[in-house]
Amino acid sequence: MLPRLSKRKTTGDAVGEQMDEAHARAARALEKWASATIVRVTSAAIDGRETFAERSITVRVPDLPLDSALPVDWYGGRPGVTCFLNALGALFPEGERFFVRSVSAYRNDIDDPALRRDIAKFIGQEVQHGGMHDRYNAVLCAQGIALDGFFRVLRLICRSPAPRFLRPLMLSITVAVEHFTSVSARLALQLESLAPAHPALRQLFEWHALEELEHKAVAFDVLQYVSGSYIVRMAGFLLCAIHAWLFLAVPLLWILARRRLVFSTRIWWDLACWAFLRERMLLRFVKGVLPYFHPRFHPDQHDDRALIARFAPRVA
Ligand SMILES: [Fe+2]
Ligand SMILES: [Fe+2]
Repeated sequence: MLPRLSKRKTTGDAVGEQMDEAHARAARALEKWASATIVRVTSAAIDGRETFAERSITVRVPDLPLDSALPVDWYGGRPGVTCFLNALGALFPEGERFFVRSVSAYRNDIDDPALRRDIAKFIGQEVQHGGMHDRYNAVLCAQGIALDGFFRVLRLICRSPAPRFLRPLMLSITVAVEHFTSVSARLALQLESLAPAHPALRQLFEWHALEELEHKAVAFDVLQYVSGSYIVRMAGFLLCAIHAWLFLAVPLLWILARRRLVFSTRIWWDLACWAFLRERMLLRFVKGVLPYFHPRFHPDQHDDRALIARFAPRVA
């Protein structure tokens, strides 16, 4: 009996030991994954702030002749692309104010003097962008493309009060949009895609693009400073990616409707060429956005200093 009991006990022990070992392996794997994710995200943020300490952000106020004498189809006589860029511009002022509010909410939680300095510069640049695009949007209204109703709805959405616990999510939405704008800005400057535009509008969009590249990491660094969570960052990105198309489609259709161009096949063909076929801007944009998914992503991993140096004298 003893040997049999002993044998049964030994088998049970072996199974138990195997289960313990499996649990321990799973726990070690989980721990390794968690520490790898958290440490990598944190170290990426620290790396970012090290280069960030040398970053130069300049608040410029260009003198742009934005008045109703501007041509209606200011982008190389292409109404499709012009309407798309006007739709983008219609979103900017309220969007910029949302970014400023979501970053400012953490201003007093930041002890890093370099980051505090750059938050102030970020706010300065975004306020100027909002004001300048307001001026251009007023020109659109003067040209008969009234957007007042759209602005009222947008204001209602962007300014609706959010509970305090949603502040990190608001900030992560800002971080995602800042990534979208920096990818678009890089494309616009690298490809000189604004070359066919009227000089005043070219300067407006290139000035905005340049400053977006200068401050591209500020909101990101604030989020890393106060949260550092990959999940929070991706939640903001997903919300933004899902709604961005809607936010763009509404003003685009609004403007096309005002100009009685909604059913123009020429317009939609022009936009399809610009987005997918000839310039392939949308495809290039999606490719540029992808690095954001990496847990160690940081905006400064893409070095834009040469591009900024090339365009800074042009937009000053
Ligand atoms: Fe901006
Ligand atoms: Fe920005």
